Amino acid sequence: MKFNFNSEFSRDKGVLFFVCAKNEPMHEYLSNLDKKNSNYIKQAMKVVNFNYKENNKLDLILPKGSRSDRIIILGVNKNSSFSDIDLGKLGSTITTMLNNKKIKEASLILNDKTFKANELALMLYGISLNTYRFNKYFSDKKKIKENYLETINLYSANHKNIKSEWYRFNAIKEGVFLTRDLVSEPSNNLTPLLLSKEALKLRKIGLKVEQLDEKKLKQLKMGALLGVAQGSANKPYVVTLEWRGNKSKKTMDYSFVGKGVTFDTGGISIKPSGGMEEMKYDMGGSAVVLGLMKALALRKTKANVSGVIGLVENMPSGTAQRPGDVVKSMSGQTIEVINTDAEGRLVLADILWYAQKKFQPKKIIDLATLTGAIIVSIGQEKAGMFSNNKDFADELTKLGLKVGEEVWNMPVDDSYEKDIRSDIADMKNVGSGRGAGSTAGAIFLKRFIKDTIWMHLDIAGVTWAKSDRPMTPKGGSGFGVRLLDELVFKNFK
Ligand code: BES
Ligand code: MG
Ligand code: ZN
Repeated sequence: MKFNFNSEFSRDKGVLFFVCAKNEPMHEYLSNLDKKNSNYIKQAMKVVNFNYKENNKLDLILPKGSRSDRIIILGVNKNSSFSDIDLGKLGSTITTMLNNKKIKEASLILNDKTFKANELALMLYGISLNTYRFNKYFSDKKKIKENYLETINLYSANHKNIKSEWYRFNAIKEGVFLTRDLVSEPSNNLTPLLLSKEALKLRKIGLKVEQLDEKKLKQLKMGALLGVAQGSANKPYVVTLEWRGNKSKKTMDYSFVGKGVTFDTGGISIKPSGGMEEMKYDMGGSAVVLGLMKALALRKTKANVSGVIGLVENMPSGTAQRPGDVVKSMSGQTIEVINTDAEGRLVLADILWYAQKKFQPKKIIDLATLTGAIIVSIGQEKAGMFSNNKDFADELTKLGLKVGEEVWNMPVDDSYEKDIRSDIADMKNVGSGRGAGSTAGAIFLKRFIKDTIWMHLDIAGVTWAKSDRPMTPKGGSGFGVRLLDELVFKNFK
């Protein structure tokens, strides 16, 4: 969708969308804008008992010869506790209202004194995030849950500042949309190879992207990742991405590592068939890494950031690995594969190791749809967060509340180590069945962290939105892109 930024209301036809906040001299503002109709509008507001709580919407057709054909007024109770999320939600509501009325283009007017430039940019962010649809596979266009909204003309004396603030949010939105597209894509059209090609496309926005094929992965001795991949006809790939926003320093500020299981049948420890189609989004972690790197590159972050994604398909077949097999990871540690469905941690074991070796990041964050158990623990509202550094965990918790992508701190201390002890290898890939399934996954990953500050985000519950939410239409959510962009922005711009 498109935003046009203008200073004063100049358009003569079409729909005028007016957001008025509590306590502002709204009638005065409106009457200056549209002298001819101001009494009529005032009267209509009185008749419907317009107020800022329950009855805060008004949709009026204006008489012929007016400056616009129609005016929609939305009242908001903008008080001092109005947060970034409230602004995003307000934007989302605007999209929903305009879409319900099948409106393609609207002129948006707000009082500059009530809404500052960055607040308006956050509202535009909410408007655009809610226009996302994944419609590509419908042949009958009537079945589509249509997004009609294409253009918003924003009128504000602050339009220059809004435009510069919008630059960043537009970049993040592009990243979120990429993540949603990838998460929604069915696995027949998004094999490891095809997903690696999506990553390679990001070269054109200035990212350094390298694709490692099976031969290279064998040379690197990524035995854990290769063990998962060996049951599938679709070959595995690992992709690395790099952006240096500060060339004057050598250090790498962050590495983002993503699980990219393009389909997870469970392998020989096969999953029940009910709901198995959901496992198309088991590459959600890698999709977040790609969306995030896209956003960071588009908005030209000053940070040095890198990404590593491990792309495999987990299939049962004559060549698949068996429960009980022992594999040797790139780190040299051996793993007894008790359950072939605990495959994400096997993939991450090797790419976490590789990311630290290649980039030596100050901080490493992995994202993975790792366990069903995280949904049992905390549901689908928040991501599970596991970290070896309390300050880092606290920082992320705060940022999550700010952007509306919340994380919940979960334990990953050494008392859980005994859970993954194996009788014949350095560790086994599942816990001993005494609960804490998500922590068992996290403690396994921790074995592959040297002394880097690390965080694991279990996004199994938040990657797919089962129903519409503010700023997130039903489907792939893009959870993580906005959160981690905020982390980078706060520390490095
Ligand atoms: N990809 C699944 C986890 C998952 C579940 C993601 C639901 C999204 C929604 C993961 O590979 C898996 O199968 N985990 C097992 C681990 C178990 C075998 C220790 C699980 O959660 O059952
Ligand atoms: Mg699995
Ligand atoms: Zn999985």
